[in-house]
Amino acid sequence: MSKVTIKVNDNGSLRITGDVELIDAEGNQFETKPSFSLCRCGLSKNKPFCDGSHKGNFESIVRAAKE
Ligand code: FES
Repeated sequence: MSKVTIKVNDNGSLRITGDVELIDAEGNQFETKPSFSLCRCGLSKNKPFCDGSHKGNFESIVRAAKE
């Protein structure tokens, strides 16, 4: 199985890269590309995907603790 990366973008989406299955609450699979972005701000009109609506409307910068 290939490694999947999820990047938390500053003031924006979650960027998913890798071979994943994205399913809804009923187990139905969304069509995805090898790399795609999930909405983290709640403003997208194309949820669960990011549609760029976060730009200028969402602030969140998070950093993982350094080991
Ligand atoms: S994170 Fe991009 S529209 Fe919500």
